[in-house]
Amino acid sequence: MKLSVSGRATAAGAVAVALLLTGGSIAGASPGAQPLAAAPDIPLANVKAHLSQFQSIATANGGNRAHGRPGFKASLDYVKAKLDAAGYTTTVQQFTSSGRTGYNLIADWPGGDPDQVLMAGSHLDGVTSGPGINDNGSGSAAVLETALAVSRAAHRPAKHLRFAWWGAEELGLVGSRYYVNNLSSANRAKITGYLNFDMIGSRNAGYFVYDDDPTIEKTFKDYFAGLGVATEIETEGDGRSDHAPFKSAGVPVGGLFTGASRAKTSAQAAKWGGTAGQSFDRCYHSSCDTTSNINDTALDRNSDALAHAVWELSD
Ligand code: TRP
Ligand code: CA
Ligand code: ZN
Repeated sequence: MKLSVSGRATAAGAVAVALLLTGGSIAGASPGAQPLAAAPDIPLANVKAHLSQFQSIATANGGNRAHGRPGFKASLDYVKAKLDAAGYTTTVQQFTSSGRTGYNLIADWPGGDPDQVLMAGSHLDGVTSGPGINDNGSGSAAVLETALAVSRAAHRPAKHLRFAWWGAEELGLVGSRYYVNNLSSANRAKITGYLNFDMIGSRNAGYFVYDDDPTIEKTFKDYFAGLGVATEIETEGDGRSDHAPFKSAGVPVGGLFTGASRAKTSAQAAKWGGTAGQSFDRCYHSSCDTTSNINDTALDRNSDALAHAVWELSD
């Protein structure tokens, strides 16, 4: 047995006993090596509480949270208040689209290398036909809860963390494109990755990973593999969400998706459960996209995968 722990002679006996009991190692005995902190488990109940708030906001504002409507701004105010209370530096970026005012919400976590910025984002607007709970309250709530988990953990990653909630995605990626177009080339070059979350709680869920930056893709795939959950490459419309403007600007991108109007195949139902021949989200862009239109297991797994990626890719 090798005794490599230095200590006072009077403690040597106790150390030897501890080494025997622990199989020869004492955690933390080697100074200098800082173990990377693991991401926390994101509480599903917290994510669902945000979805309930988005539902109430829609109900109180004509049934939707669409661009240029009061339900969108109320959603933004809700998210911003949570972030401000958690110690984030928030910025509201205003733009105009289709004659209506739109907003992006950007939240910076103080600290980290300002020249290496990891971003995670989701669109906060919905269509006018419903409350937009899976599309995209799900991504918005999971990104918010991950940001709040960073604060609760007093997480101090090597990179600077920035979270974003986009406006007017449903009008054609308007808010995210506005953000990217208004970045200086120097600030764009500092973004080491952008992670996108648009529809991550589809009722008849599939587990789709964007086939983009290899490191980001592997981070997500490995996480799901560890859960024993099979994944597939996202193919239901590449470029149909807010990662597209980042990708066009040369930023490494990735993300998660549980499916929209496409039907689940029998092979997919065999590996994921659910109903073959039925849409991943039967309420896509319709009035039934309510808090009942959420697959809790999918939302929980994707929220945890989001937090895992934020932790792993920022250290
Ligand atoms: N972005 C689309 C929406 O909000 C949904 C969607 C369709 C999507 N295909 C996608 C999102 C692929 C991410 C990836 O209505
Ligand atoms: Ca969880
Ligand atoms: Zn949509």
